[in-house]
Amino acid sequence: MPPHLLSVDSLSRDHVDHLLRVAARMEPIAQRRQVTRVLEGAVLGNLFFEASTRTRVSFNAAFCRLGGSVCDTTGFTFSSMAKGESLYDTSRVMSGYCDAIVMRHPEQGSVAEFAAATHVPVINGGDGPGEHPSQALLDLYTIDKEFTRLGKQLADAHVLLTGDLKYGRTVHSLIKLLSLYAPMRLTLVAPPGLEMPSHLVDLVASRGHRVEQRDSLADDYSDVDVVYTTRIQKERFTAEMSEGFSLSRDFTVDRAFLDGRCGRDTLVMHPLPRDSRPDANDLDVDLNGDPRLAIFRQTDNGIPVRMAIFATLLQVESLIEQDLRPVRWFVPKRLGVDDAAL
Ligand code: NCD
Repeated sequence: MPPHLLSVDSLSRDHVDHLLRVAARMEPIAQRRQVTRVLEGAVLGNLFFEASTRTRVSFNAAFCRLGGSVCDTTGFTFSSMAKGESLYDTSRVMSGYCDAIVMRHPEQGSVAEFAAATHVPVINGGDGPGEHPSQALLDLYTIDKEFTRLGKQLADAHVLLTGDLKYGRTVHSLIKLLSLYAPMRLTLVAPPGLEMPSHLVDLVASRGHRVEQRDSLADDYSDVDVVYTTRIQKERFTAEMSEGFSLSRDFTVDRAFLDGRCGRDTLVMHPLPRDSRPDANDLDVDLNGDPRLAIFRQTDNGIPVRMAIFATLLQVESLIEQDLRPVRWFVPKRLGVDDAAL
């Protein structure tokens, strides 16, 4: 494994397969049936300079579930960057305090710049519109797990990516990760101006995948295995783009779309958060409770996958099974009101 996880570019198919296998071994711990202390004494620095709920908390929880402790800082206001400290100095300082660092920052390339000055593993928790490699790994883990349940295979799968494909860093990492696998069909559906960057389309096509770009969801998608939809990243728009922009209802993934245009076992995924404000036209809540909606199974999968990333980067993955103990507390069944019983 490379020393840091900054971009999917640094991962080979073997690295990814290894991480997913380690993640599967983390399930008893992630599901709170077993406890491990393999990272006892280790400290994670969790640095988030951009809004986050699940990435920040799940990295934190994953490190704690391995027995480590977490120090964190959120936002520029409460860090010395507000006093003009460079990424470089912050990085060197932090690596004297922590054994691994997760960082999210609004500028593309910033996490790699930060990693250049440190001597501990750095994980990119999202660098502006750049990449979000741990999200792509948990997305792939989810697809693999759901396909196993449905008796499907990744080879020849048809995956539809929709929403903000220009600024959505999760889809940038995911399309690269999927492209490491057997040739598949990728349909990219974006509103005008928010299409997938052409270098990513070209990369995936050059690896033998069938890529098709469209500008409407009003088509027949009955052979699509996964619909992966994303939030419009208005915070990354230029002033010119923001003016008068509104996402047409035609891009909404909802019950009418899924029942009318997709297959009976088409999965719906979303990195979340979904924008629930009126007129956002993000993924509709009318699919809550539908077993095809995999979004909360997807967020749950963030824990074993992030545990696998830490265990691999800190080289304790071979120790996991030696160190397991049953949990001592009562674990309620984890099914929310809007989850489907599979
Ligand atoms: C996304 C992100 O921050 O890139 N969410 C996530 O990390 N799960 C997607 C988004 O902000 O829309």
